[in-house]
Amino acid sequence: MCGIIGYVGPDLCADTLIGALSKLEYRGYDSAGIAVIDEGGALVTRRAEGKLGNLVKRLREEPVDGRTGIGHTRWATHGAPTESNAHPHRSGSIAVIHNGIIENHLELKAELREHGHEFTSETDTEVFAHLVDHYRTVRGLALPEAVRQAVIRLHGAYAVVVVDAKTPGMLVGARMASPLVLGVGEGANYLASDAAALLSHTRDMVFIEDGQVVTLTPGGVELRDVASGELLPVAPVHVTWSPAMAEKGGYKHFMLKEIHEQPRAIGDTLRGRVSLERNAVNLPEVPLTRDDLASFRQIYVVACGTSWHAGLVGRYLFEDLAGLSPHVELASELRYRKAPMDERTLFIAVSQSGETADTLAALRDAKAKGARCIAICNVLGSSIPRECEGTVYTHAGPEIGVASTKAFTTQVAALHLIALHFGRLLGRLDDGAMAAELAALLHVPSVIETLLLAGEAPYEEIARAWHDRTSMLFLGRGSLFPMALEGALKLKEISYIHAEGYAAGEMKHGPIALIDEKTPTIILNPRDGHYAKVRSNLSEVRARSGPVCVVATEGDADAGDAATFCLTVPDVPEHVLPLVMAVPMQLIAYHMADFKGTDVDQPRNLAKSVTVE
Ligand code: F6R
Repeated sequence: MCGIIGYVGPDLCADTLIGALSKLEYRGYDSAGIAVIDEGGALVTRRAEGKLGNLVKRLREEPVDGRTGIGHTRWATHGAPTESNAHPHRSGSIAVIHNGIIENHLELKAELREHGHEFTSETDTEVFAHLVDHYRTVRGLALPEAVRQAVIRLHGAYAVVVVDAKTPGMLVGARMASPLVLGVGEGANYLASDAAALLSHTRDMVFIEDGQVVTLTPGGVELRDVASGELLPVAPVHVTWSPAMAEKGGYKHFMLKEIHEQPRAIGDTLRGRVSLERNAVNLPEVPLTRDDLASFRQIYVVACGTSWHAGLVGRYLFEDLAGLSPHVELASELRYRKAPMDERTLFIAVSQSGETADTLAALRDAKAKGARCIAICNVLGSSIPRECEGTVYTHAGPEIGVASTKAFTTQVAALHLIALHFGRLLGRLDDGAMAAELAALLHVPSVIETLLLAGEAPYEEIARAWHDRTSMLFLGRGSLFPMALEGALKLKEISYIHAEGYAAGEMKHGPIALIDEKTPTIILNPRDGHYAKVRSNLSEVRARSGPVCVVATEGDADAGDAATFCLTVPDVPEHVLPLVMAVPMQLIAYHMADFKGTDVDQPRNLAKSVTVE
């Protein structure tokens, strides 16, 4: 977590740093700060507690500018979210920004204290500034070498960027287990936590690898291996995301924009991978043969949060379409278990960011045990895909809202494609079934488009009525059970209303005790194979005076009978129902939060990319 940005070039850069930080704020917003080497050669920092807006205000009062600079937006790990703990951290002529955790900071601090260093913050990061300063002043090393020697001493995870007032026109960055992207511009170069932050400057990027250190000047870039110091080739890739994708585009929030982008995002994820003429799924990214598949004794689908919910939907698809029943596991649990895995295990990591620490750790563990590993990921060049044999990239485009929406539906679409691919390879799907599945999947973007065009008044009405409730339940059966979980997660994370997702059939085993006239229940009850059973669950809630919002199939004349509110979704085949059902779940949460006036895109305590355990 935490967002970092660095610039070196011919222009004054304070605005560039702030602009990039506004795109990185989703990674943390406990404090923000910049450091620049000003026109007089002095290193000047400005920092402020809280969101980026506070820093912008501070800069208006006390402007500062220079042509070499770094910026940071923080998600606090070590030390409270105060100004003194805000980055950049300094020692002498050095300023540093850091994303990650330096695990041996106490040991390094003790050592540096013996050399007379004094610390002003409670952070792990500050020791790194002092360590670089120490190597510069005591050993007289040039900045790139001082940084290289300093990172050799670090244990833990870091993406760091360093400036030194003694060497204006230079940035040095290094990476271990936290993302760092180099942007190659014309006469200017950049470092950032993700590509989206740099899109308005350049689309030529180098994804810095673990164990690399990079030195940037306005006209050049030098990449080295940290351990050996050897020079490495610099090979930029051209990123296809456009700058507009990282803007709000007229929507009130990124989350709302991203909900509305789903028809395009799902369409892009399917494009080129579905051939109606050949009645086939084309997934060269999944390098598995029929024999490989037949040899697997177990499949794991592993993820966190919303991505785990996508995995849970995937299990129904794998079972129905390929006769395979994967273990769908929370990475944060699996990584500490002793689950037996070997070369007859297929491990599928699902992650929007590709950087989630727990998913990455579970993946590494599975790999070490010999498992074959593939990923479903949205961020090109991120850590998880780089450690897998193959990656099915979702083409959602940058997701900035902290609550995941389009990344989720594109993950479900990718899992659907993989299930179909495996089903065909294993001979589980005949031509007719395959054609019907593909047609249904390809139809989803236009179905969601229609659903979105119908407008959001019903959701606003629900928000008006229920925004002051303290607790809500979401119920679904079959593949809509994970959608109930997802609906509840979306609601709690952005509206701060406590919500539980439950399998409707489990109600009577406990949660029904929660029902009273103040506790609304959202019941997912379309005309699918579970219709009658869920309808009975709805009656049970009503019989206990619980207010109900039913989400039903369009044209179901009986749906609204017993409900306070009735939302509808178009009638679609069962396997694509979760994709369509995602939209009302997202819009209920969005409008509740918007009505309450919470910070929809940056809800409290959260950060988008969870790169700490
Ligand atoms: C919730 C949300 C999170 C993420 C989770 C995993 O809306 O976004 O629960 O799904 O942190 O993140 P990724 O998919 O980046 O591994």
